Amino acid sequence: MNEQENKSFVSGSESFSDAENKRRDALDRQYEKALLMWNHDKFKSEVKQSQLMHNFMKDYEGELAASANKKMLDLGCGIGNDVITLRKQGYEATGIDISHSALKLAEKRAAEEGVGGYFVQAAYSNLPYESNTFKVCYSVGGLGGNNLEYLKTSVKEVERVLENNGIFLFNANMVVNEKTLEDQQQGIIRYLEAPLVDKLIEGTSFKVEKFAQSEAEVAGHLLKRSKVVLRKL
Ligand SMILES: C[S@@+](CC[C@H](N)C(=O)[O-])C[C@H]1O[C@@H](n2cnc3c(N)ncnc32)[C@H](O)[C@@H]1O
Repeated sequence: MNEQENKSFVSGSESFSDAENKRRDALDRQYEKALLMWNHDKFKSEVKQSQLMHNFMKDYEGELAASANKKMLDLGCGIGNDVITLRKQGYEATGIDISHSALKLAEKRAAEEGVGGYFVQAAYSNLPYESNTFKVCYSVGGLGGNNLEYLKTSVKEVERVLENNGIFLFNANMVVNEKTLEDQQQGIIRYLEAPLVDKLIEGTSFKVEKFAQSEAEVAGHLLKRSKVVLRKL
């Protein structure tokens, strides 16, 4: 395991590409705006496990309990909800995110919850971990906003850091509106349907173990959701 794992978040920015630096700056600005709001008591957010991880932990309870490897990696951990919850449940969860501002808040919240900091600034394309480290890698809403080539590189990285028979779980939810449709036309992935998942795992040893998608109308907009479980064979 890389020595970064048990440290407070560290800057890995020197290894970011120009595109990643731009993305980090944009995401930092978004988080800084949100942070300003969270400074008001009214906006203080509770630590809450995502529905995706909650359901996954139930569905895979037996396998996870039987595994000696309790290491999990959260790709795009944001402000740390799932890492903090998993730590409390006894799992060795670590979160990476490209945004320094998100990680600052994640660390603060983890300290308040008494689980310490397990957060590292890194991008999906270059994971600062040794091969075959994790039992589970997951990304809750973290893959959208990147293009296909970037995600393919990232999936290869996840394949590398997962142990054999390890699991990669992720979802992609897209509110269909002008902005997201325009993004999609420009090659920025917002939603992952089955053929796209197949493209993502081409040339890897991943097999699709579960795939589910649904559509709903929310506040007058179509919300498309998909969730995927991959198994490294
Ligand atoms: C929609 S947020 C989800 C955050 C968190 N998983 C949650 O459920 O609250 C997506 C996160 O992915 C991070 N992210 C996006 N692209 C990234 C990349 N290429 N490398 C690392 N983190 C990235 C963003 O900074 C953001 O925190």
